[in-house]
This record gives sequence, structure tokens and C-alpha cells, in this order.
Amino acid sequence: MRMYDMIEKKKRGGVLSREEIAWMIRSFVQGEIPDYQMSAMLMAIYFQGMEDGEITDLTLEMAHSGDMVDLSPIKGVKVDKHSTGGVGDKTTLIAGPLAAACGVKVAKMSGRGLGHTGGTVDKLESIPGFRTEIGREEFFRIVEEHGIAVIGQSGNLVPADKKLYALRDVTATVDSIPLIASSIMSKKLAAGSDGIVLDVKTGSGAFMKDPASSRALAEKMVAIGRQAGKRCCALITNMDVPLGHAVGNALEMREAIETLMGRGPADLVRVSTELAALMVWLGDGGGRSEGNAGQRDALGGRFVQGEDGRKACGSPSAGQTAGGAGLDRARERVMEALSNGAGLKVLADMAEAQGGDPRCVWEPDRLAIGRERLEVKAPSDGFMGHMDTEAVGIASVLLGAGRSRKEDALDYGAGIVLKKKYGEAVQAGETIAVLYASEKERLAPAAEKFLSACTVQREKPKEEPLIYELVR
Ligand code: URA
Repeated sequence: MRMYDMIEKKKRGGVLSREEIAWMIRSFVQGEIPDYQMSAMLMAIYFQGMEDGEITDLTLEMAHSGDMVDLSPIKGVKVDKHSTGGVGDKTTLIAGPLAAACGVKVAKMSGRGLGHTGGTVDKLESIPGFRTEIGREEFFRIVEEHGIAVIGQSGNLVPADKKLYALRDVTATVDSIPLIASSIMSKKLAAGSDGIVLDVKTGSGAFMKDPASSRALAEKMVAIGRQAGKRCCALITNMDVPLGHAVGNALEMREAIETLMGRGPADLVRVSTELAALMVWLGDGGGRSEGNAGQRDALGGRFVQGEDGRKACGSPSAGQTAGGAGLDRARERVMEALSNGAGLKVLADMAEAQGGDPRCVWEPDRLAIGRERLEVKAPSDGFMGHMDTEAVGIASVLLGAGRSRKEDALDYGAGIVLKKKYGEAVQAGETIAVLYASEKERLAPAAEKFLSACTVQREKPKEEPLIYELVR
């Protein structure tokens, strides 16, 4: 086989065979295909797309390019959760402990920040002493004892994705549905959980900017998961504004803890508890039988069709909701774990087991934040309108909360706290955000970037959905 012929084929919209995909991925991982040829292939895929069968073949081949984690020594159903990436997206830190408090086993391998998006591993490492590099046996033991452990991805987990992602990052080929679906699902399959809840973000801070593309991505990923024998569903959620108020590692950790203490912002509580409920639901066997039930359910109190085909309508209190009574029960259990502090206790126990200072969980003000601060003021009277959330993510990177280059050190205390969000009234000169950093000179350029991301408009903007739909 020759890479040249495959590039030519894909360039003309041809379909790559399973053998061709297998050969291409193996040869690339072994260093036998140069980056320039793979870059050309990625761009051909970007423009021509891939058929469902090709995406599945690519995903499976990538998943098997390195270690396949065997979680069978951990008793119970293991459920993973993955976000396609967003700004201020700290849901894993809330949904994971809540699901674990409800009896689900969460053996989570998480990433670091990527581009303008944050990463769970970086956020957890803002707790002094927290170790995200631990051996497999210790990882399994912590999951057994506390229901959850979160570690960074092992060195040899999906090496094909590591190499491909690095190339995509520099060849403008990240925002491609086949490439994102195969990248995420290869890692989820290799990580070995029985169930996978996907949080597919949509909007200006997400890789997919509109609900239709996010839905297409969600459907592809769910189909791949199910073909691989996993319980799998995806929630499409809004990323047109940062989730919650905090952006940046220690700031987000503080906000996640406050949320587990019952004092979280409404949007963050809503998305995190819904994700946790889906994890519990999958753990209880939900999402296995499709029947003729609707594949997509509108959420946010507007449900379409139950798992058994019964119509459900109105608000959750109207009775059947997406996923049927099982999901309603899961929601109740999650809300209970939130209100009785069980989720918070799980987070504190996990932090301690992984070497972190648990006092930071009981008293989140102990988490250090940047000593330099700058208040950003509204330029005019009006209402907060559209926000370029990707630019807000970049502003937080400028403050030191993310990396511009792989080798950059993080400033855990850097970031942004939004004081005004979409739809809120503001007066000229009122503080709309506070920026934090360790180095004063980082503040002004970040403030400029942040302000360029905001709009203040005369009319109150129309409300946007927070949760679009459930794909299963
Ligand atoms: N996250 C991933 O892991 N891969 C992508 O391609 C995009 C987001």
C-alpha cells in the first residue's frame, strides 16, 4: 500500500477500506508515514468527510494503537464522562463525585487544557499535593474505596491520537467531525469503562459552533460507542458563554467545590447534575435497549419520547422523561447526593487519597488565586449580549491559566471571574469581570482580549437553551 494513493483517493471523495485505515494508522504510529503526508490526509478528510464505517474503523484502529485498559479488577459498573471541551467547563469535578456517591464507579482518565479549553487534570492539580500520575494498582484501589479516581492519560494510551492531534493542532484540522469523533471515542474505548456519557458542547467556545454540527458529532460518537458494545449517550449543552462564573484552574476548582456545597450557579448545577444523572442511569443499565424510542430527546423540561416509546411532555414533574422513570430516579438520587453533601465528601476523600490537601475541599478559600487583579468595566449601559467564548478562553491563557506551548508552566491561580453574564443588565463603568494573575503585566493584554469578546446591547437578548437535547 502507498500513502500517496490513499491521499489521492480521499482527496476525490473515495472511501478508505478497513485494511487501508489499519495500515495507515499502524505505519504512522511506527513513524513510517511522514507528517507531511498525514497532514495532507487530514486535510482531505476535513474537506471530504468520512462514511460511518470509515469513522468506526479509524476509531477502533486508533484505540488499539496502544494499551487497552482492563478495568475488570474494579467491581461494579464503570462509567466514564467526557466533554468535547469548553471554557469554564468544570462539570467532571461535580458530576464525577455525585455519580460516585450514588454508587457508580468512575475510573477517569482526563486530559490537560487544550488550546482555549481547560482540562480536568490541571484543575485538580491546583489542589496542593494532588497527584494525577499514579500507578494502575493504586488507581484501581482508590476507585474501589472511594468510587472515583482521576488520573492523566497513561503514556501509551492511544498513541495514534497523540500524534494525530499534535498534527491537527498545527494544520487547522481540529474542527472536523470524523476526526473529533475518532479522537475522543478511541480514548474512551481504550480507557475501558462500561458506559460513556458524552457532553457535546455547542457554541462560540466549543469546537462545534452550532447545534446541528454538535448533534451530528454526538450521533456519530454514540453510534461508535454502541457498536463497540458500550452503554453510551450524549448531552448537547450550551457553550456560547462560559459555564458558571469561573475560568481558570484554582478558580474553577473553588467554584466546583462551592457547587458541591450547594452554592453553585444555576447553569453549572443544572448541567453537572444532568450529566451525573445520566452516569447513574447508564450505571443502572439505562441506555442499553433502543427499541423504537426516539434517538434524540429535547431536554430542559421538554422531553420527547420515553425509552419504551411512551410520549412524555412538559416538565420533569409531568412524569415520564427522556430515558423513562429510570432517569428520573437517577436525577432524584443525584440531587440527594448534592443536598446531603455526599458528593462533597467523595471529592474530599478522593483528593486525600490522591495526595491532595483535603482541607482545600472543606475550605475552598485555601486554594490560592492570583495576587494581581484587574476589574474589567462595562463600556456602556445595556445588557450583556453575545460573547466570543473562545476569546474568553484565550484571555485566560494570556493570564497564565492555560498553555500557549506544550512546555509552558501553568499559573494555577490565574483566570477570570465573570460578574455579569449573557442577558444581565449592566451600567457603563460597572464591573463585568475580574481578572487574576501572578504577574501584573499579563493583566492588560488579557483585559483587552476579554473586552473584545463581549458585547453590550440595548435590548435584552433572547434566552438561549442551556441543554439542547439528549442523543442516545
Ligand atoms: N477533544 C479531543 O480529545 N479530541 C478532539 O479532537 C477534540 C476535542
